[in-house]
Amino acid sequence: MSAYLEVEGLTRRFDRTVAVDRVSFGIERGGMLALLGPSGSGKTTTLRLLAGFEQPDDGLVRVEGEDVTRADPVARRFGMVFQHYALFPHLDVGENVAFGLESRRVRGTELARRVSRALGAVDLAGYERRRVGQLSGGQQQRVALARALAPEPRVLLLDEPLSNLDPALRERTRREIRDIIRRVGITTVLVTHEQDDAFDLGDRVAVLRGGRLEQIGTPDELYSAPAGAFVAGFVGRASSIPVQLLGLANRGTRVRIEGAEWEIDAEPSSNGHPLGERLLMARPESLRLTPPGPGAVPGTVTARRFTGPAALFQVRTEAGATLEVLGQPTAAAVGERVGIMPSRRAGGGIYLFASDDR
Ligand SMILES: Nc1ncnc2c1ncn2[C@@H]1O[C@H](COP(=O)(O)OP(=O)(O)O)[C@@H](O)[C@H]1O
Ligand SMILES: [Mg+2]
Repeated sequence: MSAYLEVEGLTRRFDRTVAVDRVSFGIERGGMLALLGPSGSGKTTTLRLLAGFEQPDDGLVRVEGEDVTRADPVARRFGMVFQHYALFPHLDVGENVAFGLESRRVRGTELARRVSRALGAVDLAGYERRRVGQLSGGQQQRVALARALAPEPRVLLLDEPLSNLDPALRERTRREIRDIIRRVGITTVLVTHEQDDAFDLGDRVAVLRGGRLEQIGTPDELYSAPAGAFVAGFVGRASSIPVQLLGLANRGTRVRIEGAEWEIDAEPSSNGHPLGERLLMARPESLRLTPPGPGAVPGTVTARRFTGPAALFQVRTEAGATLEVLGQPTAAAVGERVGIMPSRRAGGGIYLFASDDR
């Protein structure tokens, strides 16, 4: 069975930049995919290719099995909310929402009905005659969402819809947007550089880097089984340190890590040489502080940050790596010499990658 929205080998070059590099994914009807990546990774270009504002050099876009790769933006019936939400300040809320419908030749009472329905869907029923400038940033973003939803698009495209909001408003607006989209049940692609947005909103997340899709999966899959060092570091916290792979152990893998030897519950990493140098990446909760001693990597606490019931310790090892370790707030003080061991709690959080995987 094929997906509702399918993207195959999508590619877009600008001069020497490959902005989008053979990107493929599928979304089921009503699914929500978050495209997550740092600035310049090709998120906006991917969205513009989907919307039809940009033509691909290669690849296909299909919706409901229909090839819309060369269809013009109106014909493909996708709705888009832009990063810098372009509400018209001289028009009222109702006129802003009507904008996309008028270009589709909806008029009169039908127009009023659909504007009112779209505003109702974003919990702004009755706001037709308000001025845009009277609304909060979160409300303005919901008007932009109503404008995109009013023509009843097949797919909704959102480009960093929360980036203009301050942190307090951001979380609330994120929840509102999530509830609205769930209620409408529309197939959605959301672009963001914020992991929290991607994880809260996406039922699946696609991580982009330099135009390439590094990994696609549920938030859980990305967090617990990152495909490479980039995803491990970009999704959640992880610190990295070079190690020597010594061989397989009873359970997992044996590594030399700055004079200590650890048995860790990690795949040995398939690429690269069978033994030798690897990059170890560890979630803070998969490490623990111990007194310095055999089996522990010695280091000095350089910072301690409270994160609720636990504290995040930054430890500088003797070879100069920095490892983040989660522990009891009273476990150590800044400046104290400590040891680091893998956490006793079995299962994940420590990964081995090829030493040049960066
Ligand atoms: N119209 C354009 N002309 C030239 N280069 C572009 C154009 N649009 C995007 N790029 C380049 O393509 C890459 C991806 O850009 P973009 O899709 O905007 O990334 P993101 O949205 O992830 O920040 C960047 O290197 C950017 O400079
Ligand atoms: Mg962008």
